[in-house]
Amino acid sequence: MSIPFISAEEAANVIKNGDNVGLSGFTASGTPKVVTVALAQRAKALHEKGEPFKINLFTGASTNDHVDGELSRADAIGVRVPYQSHKDCRKLVNGDGIHYSDLHLSHLSQDLRYGFYGDIDVAIIEATEMSPNGEVILGAGLGMAPTVAQMAKKVIIEYSSYYHNSFRGFHDNYIPLDPPHRREIPIYKPSDRIGSPILKIDPKKIVGVVPSNASESIAPFTAPDELTTRIGNNICDFLAGELKAGRIPKEFLPIQSGVGNVANAVLYGLGENPEIPRFEMYTEVIQDAVMKLMEEGKCKFASTCALTFSDDAMLHFMENIDFFRDKVVMRPGEISNHPEIVRRLGLIAMNTALEADIFGNVNSTHVLGTKMMNGIGGSADFSRNAYLSIFSCPSIQKGGKISTFVPMVSHLDHSEHSVKILATEQGVADLRGKDPRQRAETIIENCVHPMYKELMWDYLKLASKCGGHTPHHLPAAFALHEAFMETGDMLNADFARFEGV
Ligand code: COA
Repeated sequence: MSIPFISAEEAANVIKNGDNVGLSGFTASGTPKVVTVALAQRAKALHEKGEPFKINLFTGASTNDHVDGELSRADAIGVRVPYQSHKDCRKLVNGDGIHYSDLHLSHLSQDLRYGFYGDIDVAIIEATEMSPNGEVILGAGLGMAPTVAQMAKKVIIEYSSYYHNSFRGFHDNYIPLDPPHRREIPIYKPSDRIGSPILKIDPKKIVGVVPSNASESIAPFTAPDELTTRIGNNICDFLAGELKAGRIPKEFLPIQSGVGNVANAVLYGLGENPEIPRFEMYTEVIQDAVMKLMEEGKCKFASTCALTFSDDAMLHFMENIDFFRDKVVMRPGEISNHPEIVRRLGLIAMNTALEADIFGNVNSTHVLGTKMMNGIGGSADFSRNAYLSIFSCPSIQKGGKISTFVPMVSHLDHSEHSVKILATEQGVADLRGKDPRQRAETIIENCVHPMYKELMWDYLKLASKCGGHTPHHLPAAFALHEAFMETGDMLNADFARFEGV
C-alpha cells in the first residue's frame, strides 16, 4: 500500500484537543522535530480564537526544544509523563500549568500497555528508513517507540533525511509480554540481542509521512573542569580500590552512567585511569565521552537507549559508523533500564544527586523540596538494583550558600537502602554495612564541604540526644533550608536555638 507524504501542518491537524500523544525518542535523540512545532503553532492559533487545545504528552525521556519547548510556550500540554528537562516546560510544571507525573522511565511503556493512562490516540515516530509495508528503521534513540507505535490508533512518521549513513542494525526492538505471561528478559551480557532491528508498524494506521531534515540539536558538553574532574577522580580511585580488593571482579562490571557534566567527567576519568580495565556499558544514554572511549579501546561495548551526542560528535559517529556497528546496540527504554537486567548484570550505577542527607538519602528532583528540576528519570531503575550504586554531586552550590549535604533531604527519591556510595570533590563515603550513625560520621568526614562540617556535627550531636536508630531532631532537621529561605545562606543555620526544644 502507498503511504502519502503530508506536510507537518497536515499531520498536526490529525491531532485533537485532549489526545494522548506518544513520541519516539529518548532525550533529544530520535524524537520528532517538525510535527510538534506545527502542532504548537496550531495550538496558538486555536487559543487566539478562544478555543481550547492541549495534548497529553508521553515520551521516552526528556525531549528537545522542538517538543517540550515549543509545546510549553504554546501552552499546549495538559499532562506530561514521565520526564522533562526544558526550562519552559519546568516553569509550567512548577506553576500548575502542566500536570506532570514524574515516573521511573522503565515503567511508562508497561503502564501504558496496562491501560493506566487510557489509549494512545496518535504516535509520532521518527524514522530514518521505511518501506511501504510499514517496516521502519528508527533514528538515534528509541524510547517508547515500539509500545506507542503498537498501541496508537494513528501513526505519523517523521522521515529524517538528516543522517547520511544507515542506522540499520543498531536497534533491538522488543516488547516483553505483560503479566501473567511475562518471561525472563533473555539478556545475559550487554551485547545480547533479543528483538528485531526493524520496527513493524501496521501500515493501515500510518496517516502520512512528514519529511524532516533537522539534527538532534544537542549542544556540546563542557569539558571537565577542576570540580567535576575531582569528583570523577574520586570515583575512579574508589573503583580502582574495589578492583584491587577483589570486590569488583577483574574483568570489571558493566557501567551505567547518568547524564550531565559530572557523568561525562567520570567517564573521562575512567578512560584515563590505567588501573581500570576495558569495560562495557549497560546504560540509558551514551554521550560524547563514550564515543571517545570506544575509539581508544577502553569501552568495548555499549547497550543504550539513545546516542545523546552533540551535533559535531554525531557527525563524527556517522562518518565512522562501520567502526561502531558491532560496539553499540540501542534498545527501548523499558529494556535499557530494566531492573531485572540491571540486577543480573551487576551494574556499577553512577547518578547525580541534587541533595543528600547525612544518613544517605538522596533527592535528585526537587530544589528545596518543592521546585521540580527535571525528574527521577532512569536513576532509580538503575540505583535500586545495581551491584554498586554511586551518587555524586558537588558538596556546595551557589558559591557555598547551599550545602548539598543536609540533616534531612527535603524530598526523597533514593532512600538510604539504595544508596551504597556517595562522592563529592571532597571524597567518597562508603555506606555499605554501616548503621545510620556510622553513615552520618562517614558522610560528614568524607563528603561534606569544610565550611559546613561543624554545622553537621552540631546537628548530629543535637539529634543523638533524642535517641532512636536514625537520630533526628525533627524541629531542627530543616534548619539549613529554613536559613536559606530566610537569609539566602544555609550557613546562617544555628542549632544552638534548638537545645532543650
Ligand atoms: N539546592 C538548590 N539548588 C541546587 C542544589 C540544591 N541542593 N543542587 C544544585 N542546585 C542548582 C545548581 O546551583 C544549579 O543551578 P543553576 O542552574 O542556577 O546554575 C542547578 O541546580 C543544577 O545543578 P548542577 O550541579 O549543574 O546539576 P546537573 O546538571 O549536574 O544535574 C540533576 C543534576 C540531579 C538535576 C540531574 O542529574 C538530574 O536531573 N538527575 C535526575 C535524573 C537522572 O539521574 N537521570 C539520569 C539517570 S540514568
